[in-house]
Amino acid sequence: MSGLIHTPVLPGEVAEVLALQPGETYADCTAGRGGHAAVLAAKAQPGGRVILNDADASNLEFASEHVAQQVAGIAVHRFHGNFALLPREMESAGLQADAILADFGFSSTQIEDPARGFSFMRAGPLDMRFDPSRGLSAADLVNTASERELGRILRDFGEEPAAFRVAQAIVQSRKAAPIQTTEALAEIVRSVVGRRPGSGVDPATKSFQALRIAVNDEIGSIDALLSQVLRAAKGVSGKPGGGAARQGGEVGSERLWLRKGARIAFLTFHSLEDRPVKAVLADICKQGLATDLARGGITASDEEIRANPRARSARLRAIRLNT
Ligand SMILES: C[S@@+](CC[C@H](N)C(=O)[O-])C[C@H]1O[C@@H](n2cnc3c(N)ncnc32)[C@H](O)[C@@H]1O
Repeated sequence: MSGLIHTPVLPGEVAEVLALQPGETYADCTAGRGGHAAVLAAKAQPGGRVILNDADASNLEFASEHVAQQVAGIAVHRFHGNFALLPREMESAGLQADAILADFGFSSTQIEDPARGFSFMRAGPLDMRFDPSRGLSAADLVNTASERELGRILRDFGEEPAAFRVAQAIVQSRKAAPIQTTEALAEIVRSVVGRRPGSGVDPATKSFQALRIAVNDEIGSIDALLSQVLRAAKGVSGKPGGGAARQGGEVGSERLWLRKGARIAFLTFHSLEDRPVKAVLADICKQGLATDLARGGITASDEEIRANPRARSARLRAIRLNT
């Protein structure tokens, strides 16, 4: 999988709102395959710096190599982990960003790799973790969660109308044998949901999305990152107990992870991601702490969607800190 490319979504629009200048620092919360990072790092040259973060160690490795190859001489810092922890890591390392991007969800290379267990179209172990080195896999979840808990996950994160019937079928099936593969789970879901007449969509789509979101605590991570952005906008450090109003990007002797005037961009792909981003950014702007750079959100052109179908549901939201 290591040679495969993930086509970045809305690259021109992201570059425009982030408006990196030579010598600035760009932090990529979701480095993925380094597509956005290479474009943005180039704008920060000469003298720029790029901070790459990803929960997926193999993507992080690939992104670092890709950026170093594409942008000669750029200084690269890497962090492996959940982006919710990046602000604290950056402050501990004394790093401050002039621009950040979080491009949520999975990379094409993750979903296309059968060994990662993300896809109902590819036979493999039922894993779905962005970071396979920690936490519970999707197999752990479907084999241990209560029927009620599974039903809620499928309803809340997949908007699956048959959520509780699918949960019941999962619990019935695992009594006979643990559910270990993507194929086994997809078959259980299909036996309950069935293909909707005239629909090209696989009946397992919503359930797989729901489990992936739950396994990776995707919404909790987004909420945590947003609260760190809000804290920084108010001049509060990302570290627990951090306080005080900022003065030119510094709080006492602490350097905040976001510099004064930092540009912040999010790429969301469905309403569960977009709703909290929209609400928090609107709140920050309403408090006069930032200026909206993408009123209503920016979506992809028909041309981009034709070339990259994943762009269809993308929405770019962005602000610039006033403080
Ligand atoms: C859509 S891809 C990013 C693609 C990237 N912008 C590019 O152009 O190549 C999303 C990446 O975010 C990572 N990711 C998702 N949730 C994360 C989290 N909470 N913390 C850190 N990384 C996360 C995934 O592992 C994946 O590599």
